[in-house]
Amino acid sequence: MTQIEEMQEEIQGTPLVPIDKIVSLSKRRGFVYPNSEIYGGVAGFYDFGPLGVELRNNIRRFWWWSMVQMHDNVVGIEGANITHPRVWEASGHVENFVDILVDCKKCKRRFRIDHLDPKNVEQNKCPACGGEFTEPRRFNLLMETYLGVVEGDRMKTYLRGEACQNIYLDYDNVVKSSRVQIPFGICQIGKAFRNEVTPGNFLFRQREFEQWDLQFFVHPSEMDKWFDYWKEYRFKWYQTIINHKDRLRFHEHGKDELAHYAKKAYDIEYRTILGWQEWEGIHWRQDWDLSRHSQYSGQDLSYTDLNTKERYIPWIVETSGGVDRTFLNLLLDAYEEQPDPMGKGNDRTVLHLHPWLAPVKCAVLPLQKNKEELVGVAKDIHKNLQRFMVTQYDDIQNIGRRYRRQDEIGTPYCVTIDFQTLDDQTVTLRERDSMEQIRIPISELTMYLLDRVTWK
Ligand code: GAP
Repeated sequence: MTQIEEMQEEIQGTPLVPIDKIVSLSKRRGFVYPNSEIYGGVAGFYDFGPLGVELRNNIRRFWWWSMVQMHDNVVGIEGANITHPRVWEASGHVENFVDILVDCKKCKRRFRIDHLDPKNVEQNKCPACGGEFTEPRRFNLLMETYLGVVEGDRMKTYLRGEACQNIYLDYDNVVKSSRVQIPFGICQIGKAFRNEVTPGNFLFRQREFEQWDLQFFVHPSEMDKWFDYWKEYRFKWYQTIINHKDRLRFHEHGKDELAHYAKKAYDIEYRTILGWQEWEGIHWRQDWDLSRHSQYSGQDLSYTDLNTKERYIPWIVETSGGVDRTFLNLLLDAYEEQPDPMGKGNDRTVLHLHPWLAPVKCAVLPLQKNKEELVGVAKDIHKNLQRFMVTQYDDIQNIGRRYRRQDEIGTPYCVTIDFQTLDDQTVTLRERDSMEQIRIPISELTMYLLDRVTWK
């Protein structure tokens, strides 16, 4: 079965969500806005709204918790966006970080050669209109910037093209300051900047985005073992937070895709309306990065084993993924439009986000906003829950509409305070996906929710 046939079959089963549904929901409900929109926007840049920032923080925190906090042999850093320009010479980016582009002479569309069907390249034929291509041109993706204020005396450098370089730069300081011993890892979440020539598909390919990296330093003899460990760990990590587990797979790099120093590499791919696409890369970086930085800086970046006194440049397993791509994939994975089974027009849009990651954990809803007794209890419950999780207080419109509003932003639980509450101190707790409702004593509410919305 071809990939297109597979996708069509899938579309007939559980539908793959069009990106524009997510773009529209994101703007309408305050997840993501186009950057500088009042000036017409800038391609490849986005801002995150009130719900977007909550979701993003939860995604980041869950990654940090599982990668750093839950591993005794992993520590974190946070590096600057700008480094010494030599870093990008050592890393090979100045020379090799290029996209090769062609333009169609007829319809003027621009294509990255590596994104074209090889047949189109061979036949020199534009896939959109059949026109001829221009000669290929090379574009460096690094974003330049200048340090200093005196004209003619300013130093050219770059916004970091990949966040991980700071980890190699700080590796020696971490070894000397934090008593880590090989095997150990350094994690970082940070921005990266690329002059992508064809930014697009919303958050999928941007010019400013955020990456999460683990660089795990090992003795060469243990490289295979740790590569396999992190490859499996990262795959399971993604499985934990998605609904459509069958849309996750490994793609093993072929010989033509591998870096010259890499014995193997895998992408963790997720399937959306864009097809199978990379979500995170598991890379065999060997001693390439530390050797290059040793060579370019003149500093000795070798490691001495405290027990055996062996000196060597550690080898590195890298897991490198995108916060923004995670954000987008999670929304695509979670989005569902459910028609009203009774056909009465009560259709709903639901985000089946994992409760750990949902931007709002619980909505507190007094049945009527003009009944002081209900409002007083509801506000107390809201104030108490706020200390532990993000909650929203909502008393606008009827209760059905309020449930729908919360479903659409993925709030896993709604608490309704009604007249029975005043008699027996219980509330109605409604769960988002099943829409099931239970009565629960107010005194048990916080523990009940905490048990379900915090990771473990
Ligand atoms: N240090 C290795 C590295 O940077 P990469 O495959 O270029 O590898 C890692 O990037 C991850 O960063 C990708 O798997 C993807 O999730 C994310 N990413 C890369 N380019 C991106 C872009 N232009 N916009 C959004 N995310 C991007």
